[in-house]
Amino acid sequence: MTGKPAGAATQNAEPGVQRCINVACASTYGLRERVYLCPRCGETLEIVCRPAAPGRPEVMRKQWTSRGAQRVLSEDPRDASGVWRYLEMLPFEENAPFVTLFEGNTPLLAAPRSAAYSGLTRLRLKHQGYNPTGSFKDTGMAAALTQAVISGARTAICASTGNTAASLAAYASRSGLQAAILLPRGQVSPSKLAQSLDYGALVLEIDGNFDACMRLVQELGDDPSIYIANSINPFRIEGQKTVAFELIEQCRWQVPDHVVVPGGNMGNSTALGKGFQELLDLGMIDRLPRLSVIQAEGAAPLARLFATLDSRKLISDEFLPEKLVPVENPQTLATAIKIGAPVSWKKALRAVLRAGGQIISVSEQEIADAKAMIGRDGIGCEPASATTVAGIKKLVAAGQIAPTDDVVAVLTGHALKDPDYMIRYHEGTLSSCSSGKEHLPPEPFAGRFRNNPKRVAATKAAILSSLERER
Ligand code: F0G
Repeated sequence: MTGKPAGAATQNAEPGVQRCINVACASTYGLRERVYLCPRCGETLEIVCRPAAPGRPEVMRKQWTSRGAQRVLSEDPRDASGVWRYLEMLPFEENAPFVTLFEGNTPLLAAPRSAAYSGLTRLRLKHQGYNPTGSFKDTGMAAALTQAVISGARTAICASTGNTAASLAAYASRSGLQAAILLPRGQVSPSKLAQSLDYGALVLEIDGNFDACMRLVQELGDDPSIYIANSINPFRIEGQKTVAFELIEQCRWQVPDHVVVPGGNMGNSTALGKGFQELLDLGMIDRLPRLSVIQAEGAAPLARLFATLDSRKLISDEFLPEKLVPVENPQTLATAIKIGAPVSWKKALRAVLRAGGQIISVSEQEIADAKAMIGRDGIGCEPASATTVAGIKKLVAAGQIAPTDDVVAVLTGHALKDPDYMIRYHEGTLSSCSSGKEHLPPEPFAGRFRNNPKRVAATKAAILSSLERER
């Protein structure tokens, strides 16, 4: 076993260390050591970076903004990529073999209809679906594949509900590594599968769900030629945390009251929480936004656990619960978050508790209607992303979010990731079954904002009268 137990001297020239999140263990490992779970205690790891210019927030702020401004004309990843722009905050050297598809730099969009629907005066959507492969995974994959190259791996592997797969496939191709993807057969949107195939990945379909794929990937991580690119890998989190920096920059350094994200394997919530915390630690912001996570009702192990916690007792990491009861057979039409045993649950829970947020679940009907409402803002997203607006509506109704609060929802995937869901919503043929009720027939539910195609005679008069009727 390599690494250093807590307390041992950690003098090295690397721009950070990997550290076990278990405060009682706190062992550290060099950045080049290929470890995913702590070999001493089995807990997940996180990277502690040593920022290049600590204590000089003004300098970093200016530098990030000026790089962003140059991005249209520059091909330097440190200007053009929304990840590498924040190099000072990342565990990589200046001369690292940066892998990039010019990810990040996604818009923060005003969404007035979704705001009114949720009971808010104003709501903004940070749309990570504008990334190169159409989901938020790309920011983390830029960092993970760069580290895979540095570590001399031959194959990058992941378990996926579809988006991680598409992203890994693209970034592995860019970096010349083999991509191997484990998918739950028949449970991935064809659009996502199509992307992985097109980017040239080796796609392996498993008879089992995402959690079974994830367990297999963890077993395969022992092989030195194989690099795990799931969010259990702390380098993925490093890339993904840059969305917190970009968001705060877009808010002109005014911290929003709430940031709300969907929850599946819990990498995204972990990453955002880490990003905000680092800005606070460096004095670049003066408070944390309240970070809340929304799960789908049939795949909500962490929301269930959260409901049983007395958060007043959880101010210290030592009181984090030891175990999460997994959902054995998770169910949701938002297939991206059909996950019963999230690997990063403890890190995500810690981030939410530190930030004073909530973890709740929403129903299939609530997700579907929220998704259609986001569409009415001219924005669109995939079903998993719409849990955010559904969750915000619930949190406003429960008094956890005030109507005039400054709220940002993070949309994680592009609408075209799952066109079949949209067609079925607007046709009125969506139906779902809940976890634990798989023996019952699926329950159909009607979309409140259905928008069916209308058949019309091929004449000018018929078309004009249709327009008039719908105005
Ligand atoms: N939204 C989308 C569109 C996703 O694809 C995922 C996760 C999530 C939200 C949840 O994020 O896992 O970080 O909590 N998708 C993974 C995948 C599991 O394989 O593509 P998380």
